[in-house]
Amino acid sequence: MQSCAVVGSGRMGAGIAHALLLTGASVTVIEATQELGEAGRERVAALVNDSAVRETLTQAVSEVLARLTCGVGAQAAAGSDLVVEAVPEDPALKVSVLADIEAVVDQTCMIATNTSSISVTELAAALDRPERFIGLHFFNPVPASALVEIVVGVQTSNASVDAARAVVDSMGKTAIVVRDSPGFASSRLGVLLGLEAIRMVEEGVASPADIDAAMTLGYKHPMGPLRLTDLVGLDVRLGVAEYLAAVLGDRFSPPQLMRDMVARGELGKKSGRGFYDW
Ligand SMILES: NC(=O)c1ccc[n+]([C@@H]2O[C@H](COP(=O)([O-])OP(=O)(O)OC[C@H]3O[C@@H](n4cnc5c(N)ncnc54)[C@H](O)[C@@H]3O)[C@@H](O)[C@H]2O)c1
Repeated sequence: MQSCAVVGSGRMGAGIAHALLLTGASVTVIEATQELGEAGRERVAALVNDSAVRETLTQAVSEVLARLTCGVGAQAAAGSDLVVEAVPEDPALKVSVLADIEAVVDQTCMIATNTSSISVTELAAALDRPERFIGLHFFNPVPASALVEIVVGVQTSNASVDAARAVVDSMGKTAIVVRDSPGFASSRLGVLLGLEAIRMVEEGVASPADIDAAMTLGYKHPMGPLRLTDLVGLDVRLGVAEYLAAVLGDRFSPPQLMRDMVARGELGKKSGRGFYDW
């Protein structure tokens, strides 16, 4: 994948563009306006500079930045080998962006979405070449995350899965391959653990710190499920839990304590209070 484009250069798109640049590819970050494109380019450049400071960059900063450009609209993706879509989590927006991209790229171009929850198969319905469409679910912050979930839609071809694996390998990250299903592998397991931990607080089984210690010290998790919920944001997790409960069943139903905390504005780190004081 020598020529890549990333559509949407916010938190995730900038990180994905940075990861692609480090593979040696040329990368165009695409936004809806020139001003937003320039801002996105600056975000990616800042990540490149950070990796130089942390001495994880094996090439000169100037050489890497020479391969980074920004563009406006789908047309800027023409000629790409790989386009990764990272616009906000809005199905209608993603469908329209993906269809616009497919209309301008070559038949051989692979198109990926970084959606964290929308069905890859459903997004593929808007495309003429669904076999070349796949989910590449990166984690936040991208430079510090070792994992990428490759999400395989019903019509995604094996060749596309192999190509996606090669891209993730070339980034020095580890790929797991997941059939397109709600919550993929990561959110489905992670959110369920978090919900059960909240139910345990609700039932007075133990304090948040002790429940977290059960997982960090007892099971060697790097972080307890309640501290992680505070970091992600209770409101964000509530939204994911409601979606998973609707599609996978009651085991994902949000506990009343979670709803009450969100209603009180206790959203975790971003509001200063959640299961912990921040
Ligand atoms: N933030 C996370 O922790 C995280 C983790 C994994 C996956 N994701 C997924 O990644 C995607 C992006 O999330 P984010 O946190 O980077 O959002 P963000 O809001 O930081 O960035 C989205 C970017 O898309 C741009 N954009 C909007 N409409 C556009 C258009 N029509 N054409 C081009 N660019 C457009 C915006 O200007 C913005 O820069 C979402 O699908 C999200 O679910 C997010």
